[in-house]
Amino acid sequence: ARFADQEVIRGEGGETHQVAGGDVPVLTTQQGVPVADDQNSLKVGYRGPTALEDFHFREKIFHFDHERIPERVVHARGFGAHGYFETYEPLSDLTRADLFQRAGEKTPVFVRFSTVAGNKGSADLARDVRGFAVKFYTQEGNWDLVGNNIPVFFIQDAIKFPDLIHAAKQEPDRGFPQAQTAHDNFWDFISLSPEAAHMALWIMSDRTIPRSFRFMEGFGVHTFRLVNAEGKSTFVKFHWKPKLGMQSVVWNEALKINGADPDFHRRDLWNAIQAGDFPEWELGLQVFDQDFAEKFDFDVLDATKIIPEEILPVRRIGRLVLDRCVDNFFAETEQVAFCTQNIVPGIDFTNDPLLQGRNFSYLDTQLKRLGGPNFTYLPINAPKRPVHHFQQDGHMAMVNPKGRANYEPNSWGGAAGGPREAPDIGFRSFPAEEQGAKLRIRAESFADHYSQARQFYLSQTPVEQTHIADAFTFELSKVKTPAIRARMVSHLMNVDKGLADKVATGLRLEEMPKPADAARPTRDLPPSPALSILLNG
Ligand code: HEM
Repeated sequence: ARFADQEVIRGEGGETHQVAGGDVPVLTTQQGVPVADDQNSLKVGYRGPTALEDFHFREKIFHFDHERIPERVVHARGFGAHGYFETYEPLSDLTRADLFQRAGEKTPVFVRFSTVAGNKGSADLARDVRGFAVKFYTQEGNWDLVGNNIPVFFIQDAIKFPDLIHAAKQEPDRGFPQAQTAHDNFWDFISLSPEAAHMALWIMSDRTIPRSFRFMEGFGVHTFRLVNAEGKSTFVKFHWKPKLGMQSVVWNEALKINGADPDFHRRDLWNAIQAGDFPEWELGLQVFDQDFAEKFDFDVLDATKIIPEEILPVRRIGRLVLDRCVDNFFAETEQVAFCTQNIVPGIDFTNDPLLQGRNFSYLDTQLKRLGGPNFTYLPINAPKRPVHHFQQDGHMAMVNPKGRANYEPNSWGGAAGGPREAPDIGFRSFPAEEQGAKLRIRAESFADHYSQARQFYLSQTPVEQTHIADAFTFELSKVKTPAIRARMVSHLMNVDKGLADKVATGLRLEEMPKPADAARPTRDLPPSPALSILLNG
């Protein structure tokens, strides 16, 4: 008998054995031993117990038992694809980063989109921030731009991140809700953290229920540095602009889609790429210098602030095209390890205290998630340029240094001595001057939490403003503790009185709270049309 081109033999118990032959490879154990029978364990007698010596059975079950690795502590649910980044024009005046030196140059990339709060199996259309992480495999090493679809963040200092995430994920006693902002712990934390006011407006906007990954903007969020060959540094904010424009669903649709197809976003990306309808984004830069940074009203090191595009236009410098789905979800999408500290010569950090903390966190968590210090050898994480160093051993060491030299300096000349330093082309940190007392403190320049929140709200079309008010009302209506609802409305009063009134009415608050204490008076900034989806879309 044959089935799907396989010769089939029936066993004595009627079970199916498909037989190798022709192009069909022989099934083996991990040790390469050919397998005769994969349907039956080794038994003592026809109906007897399974023998301990059945190494094939034990190996197969042992491997299965260990299939799961810890899911990411945040951004557990994600979906990745391969593609390339194409540079439009040389940027050597701004940066020596190799990928930006030649017009038309294509750099391979891997991108992973994600939700933040939900577990690995949660639904795609939860109201949540979306991760937008890009790994550029440049000729001078891997550069990871680990961004989100929202240009600001909840907190200003990474030391608050565990608290933010504990509050956002399921409550520890009951294990729910899985992926919704609608619960007491989340709004308790947000309402006790005035710095989250700006981000709160963004997450209640349509941006957190995107139509698909293909219709989202992306942002590097922090201010980074570009450094050119002369060592001159320029500040930069990174933006991704979707070719299809921005689109979102409405909340009603989100709820229905989540029920009907929790894989809606990953299916959309997979289908588009398989159909040859390759999604595209343009990479944009907002570049500025120290003088601009000092004139600007907010601190450019504060990740809760944007630089409005009307003040500093976004210069588009290249395009990202996703044109290939993964061959294997686990090997690529699950095992990919993005890290903000993966930068290349020509790109550097600033002192943004959120970025500084992220630089520690990602590698640290990946040591555990990916089982030791050698995950950079996994094909999805390995640079596409040759790698030479003296790091060795550890769990899963795959490429130890060859020969005698596993240290330097050493006396073994030529190739026998192993790799050497490259003073001219190697990475050097930008020599930013730093001084001051060691203080556990937040700079005063980070203290205005409401002006940009108001600016964002006023930048929205009336329809979008209604969506924001409805979202606050819906989410806060799930909060059981009246004091938390009232505290949240007290922040909204500093953002926009009309918004605060609508939400208070929606929640049937008995009395209007006093506006929250503001460390700095809220200023009226001109609305920024670029912040609206409907005007762009
Ligand atoms: C994962 C973005 C803040 C810790 C991620 C991912 C993204 C992201 C996109 C998913 C990467 C992937 O697809 O594999 C951001 C942005 C932030 C931010 C834009 C603020 C601007 C932070 C902070 C910390 C942090 C402040 C900690 C101090 C982590 C950790 C992971 C993660 C531990 C899991 C990484 C892994 O298991 O591979 N973040 N994040 N993030 N983030 Fe962040």
